[in-house]
Amino acid sequence: MPPASSPASPIGIVAALHQELSGLLALMQDEQRIHIGSREFWVGELDGVQVVLVLSRVGKVAAAATAAVLASRFGTCAIVFTGVAGALSPQVGIGDVVVSTEFLQHDVDASPLFPRWEIPLTGMARLAADRALADGLAGSARDVLADPLPLVGDAALHAFGLTAPRVHTGLIISGDRFVSTEAESSALRNALPDALAVEMEGAAVAQVCHEWGIPFAAVRIISDRADDSASVDFPRFITEVESRYSVAIIRRWLGRAADGSE
Ligand code: ADE
Repeated sequence: MPPASSPASPIGIVAALHQELSGLLALMQDEQRIHIGSREFWVGELDGVQVVLVLSRVGKVAAAATAAVLASRFGTCAIVFTGVAGALSPQVGIGDVVVSTEFLQHDVDASPLFPRWEIPLTGMARLAADRALADGLAGSARDVLADPLPLVGDAALHAFGLTAPRVHTGLIISGDRFVSTEAESSALRNALPDALAVEMEGAAVAQVCHEWGIPFAAVRIISDRADDSASVDFPRFITEVESRYSVAIIRRWLGRAADGSE
C-alpha cells in the first residue's frame, strides 16, 4: 500500500517524456502548476491521493535535478518513476513490466580510485528500491497485466506481439546513453548478468532519494530489446501501450492508498 500522503508531503510521480505522463496529468483534479528550475510541477489530487507530477526530461542529470526539487521543495513522502526501458535479460520481453528492487549507474567508473560502478564516497554501487513501494507496484502491475486487452486494444497487442505480458522484479541499470546496438547490450549483459532492464534516469533518482531518505521505486514498461532495432515504433509504443499500462498500474496502486487494501 502506498504511504499516506498529505498536502505537506505528497507522493512524487515522475516520467522522462511528456507522453509517458500525459495520461496521469489528464486525470488530476484542481491541480496547481508550479514552475521551478525549468520544470513544471503539477500539484493536486489523483484519485483522492495528494501527488506532485513532473517531467524530469531525459538522462541522469535532469532526473537528479528534478528529484532534488521534489525532495527539497515538495517534501515528497515517496517517489515513483514510470516510463519505458530496454530489455537486457533474455527472460524479459517487449510489453513486460519491470519493477525495480535495486538500481545501478552502469556508466559510473571512477576506477582505479573507486571500484567500477561505485558512487564515489558512498561505498555503494547498488542502491535498493523501497521494498514496500516495489511490492505494491509489482502487485498492481500483475493485476493490470492479467487482462491487457481492454487497455491496449487488439491492434496494438498484435502490432507489438504482446501475447502474455509478465511482471519482473529486479535490478534496473541507468546511464546517459540510449542503448541501441547489440554490441552494447551484450557488453552490459556480460558485465551485469542480473540486470533486467536499462534506462536513463532511475539510478540517478535512487541516489538522490537515498541521500534524502525518501522511499523510491520505478515501474518500467519494456519498449525495446536495447539492440539495433531499439528505435523501431518507439513513439507508437509509448502512446498506445506504455502510457496506458502506466496509468492503470499507478492508479491501481494509488487506489490502495484510498481504500486501505493491499
Ligand atoms: N529507454 C527505453 N529503451 C531504452 C534503451 N534501449 N536504452 C536506454 N534507455 C531506454
